[in-house]
Amino acid sequence: MGIAVSPQIHPQVADFIDKPRKMLINGAWVNSISGKTFPTYNPATGEVLAQVAEGDREDIEQAVKAARKAFDQGPWRRLTASERGRMIWKLADLLEEHIEEFAYLESLDNGKPLTIARAADVPLAVDLFRYMAGWATKIEGNTIPISVPYTPGAKYLAYTLREPVGVAGQIIPWNFPLLMAAWKLGPALASGCTVVLKPAEQTPLSALRLGELITEAGFPEGVVNIVPGYGETAGAALAAHPNVDKIAFTGSTEVGRLIVHAAAGNLKKVSLELGGKSPNVVFKDADLDSAIPGAASAIFFNHGQCCCAGSRLYIEKPIFDRVVEGIADHAKKIKVGSGLDPETSMGPLVSEEQLSRVCGYLEAGFSEGATAVTGGHKKGDKGYFVEPTVLVNTREDMKVVQEEIFGPVVAAMPFDDPEGILPRANDSDYGLAAAVWTRDISKAHRMAEHLHAGTVWINCYNIFDAALPFGGYKQSGWGREMGHDALNLYTQTKAICTKIA
Ligand code: NAI
Ligand code: MG
Repeated sequence: MGIAVSPQIHPQVADFIDKPRKMLINGAWVNSISGKTFPTYNPATGEVLAQVAEGDREDIEQAVKAARKAFDQGPWRRLTASERGRMIWKLADLLEEHIEEFAYLESLDNGKPLTIARAADVPLAVDLFRYMAGWATKIEGNTIPISVPYTPGAKYLAYTLREPVGVAGQIIPWNFPLLMAAWKLGPALASGCTVVLKPAEQTPLSALRLGELITEAGFPEGVVNIVPGYGETAGAALAAHPNVDKIAFTGSTEVGRLIVHAAAGNLKKVSLELGGKSPNVVFKDADLDSAIPGAASAIFFNHGQCCCAGSRLYIEKPIFDRVVEGIADHAKKIKVGSGLDPETSMGPLVSEEQLSRVCGYLEAGFSEGATAVTGGHKKGDKGYFVEPTVLVNTREDMKVVQEEIFGPVVAAMPFDDPEGILPRANDSDYGLAAAVWTRDISKAHRMAEHLHAGTVWINCYNIFDAALPFGGYKQSGWGREMGHDALNLYTQTKAICTKIA
């Protein structure tokens, strides 16, 4: 379709986006039933990058049917745990062989720097699949001594099995398109579920390419179905579908609530990874040589499009000016540009909608009295770029401090009383992540205990690992992804009791 990208583009990626991409249903690449396609854009230019089959209710119907059949009757359930694990490992190997290609695809579709996609997104996805591949053979029940007071003298052998929940619907966002697909698919497949995955409409490409590798890795037909499309149509149909046993969602808290409602029909299991407004607390005894760049990357990594972004920055008063200046210096040095440019350290936001959302927050902040030490505006007139921004003169009652901005915008606020900072840090509807910077280990762990967040980083930020559970307290979500906790989302316990005497 005559791609509007520079000639430096990876040749396989150029081929991949040259023709309209189809959806993966029951092991075959098919057009949407309506025949409709939708465009995905290059956020660095605003130009159409590729056309993609537009899944809707009828396509979801077919995909769920395929996943149901693969779960109930297919060879998938008859594979040994070791065979399942090896298939997931094979997928990891294939993905690793294509790191460069996936990094390009991710950079083009999402806007993130190629260097970051190559160093973080793709290797983290590879590692996640390897980690989950290992779990396939280690999903164990227990043998349980039971006493049964009303059958004196009887003996029982009681044990539990952990069985896959069945067909999992998975709806993912655009901020880490490939990695979010891995976080969802890895534990579902390790547990023996079958899947219908709906990538975000802004960034469907890497999931579709992953679908090709899934087929190549040998997963039986219907085990993984990938239906790109819009949230209100394909997403809503998946969340409400009566033959879907579990729905896993990552995205906005607003849509998270819709998912819970939609799931009520057949009471499907629900896991949610939603927004955040994470507090990042810098004490005056912190090592500022690491705290300053750490706090800068806490907000600027992935252009602030992280659910765990350190967007509420609390700094102990004596070091406030120094830390703010230091972060502003970092912000000024960030090279904002096209993700494909090797010099770029921050790409565009993902879409025009996100650009206007972030700019709207900046205006709201200014009108309520916040000021920008650096940044504060849209950048350039092509693509969806925004300046890395450090706001001061902010208060807890401001919109920019209460609500998730999902852009490179940090609100810095001083604090006097090291004991009084906890209630301020916890004053949020969200509870996804938090961080503390201090040299006092007792203070650090006291804070960690009392912060209402699913992740607490001490003297670091944005440290992720396939083995470390991630998820939210309060309105940041239900359940934990990654680590062995993630298997709980895709398994259910069966208790079996045999009378033996
Ligand atoms: P969104 O929540 O609308 O989209 C996330 C996913 O949900 C996409 O795949 C979308 O197609 C799907 N979806 C949308 N409406 C749906 C519905 N009614 N039923 C089923 N699925 C539906 O998020 P959006 O609009 O892209 O971004 C809005 C805000 O959400 C961001 O500014 C940010 O604050 C937050 N967000 C949080 C993310 C996180 O990692 N927790 C990721 C993306 C966005
Ligand atoms: Mg939306």
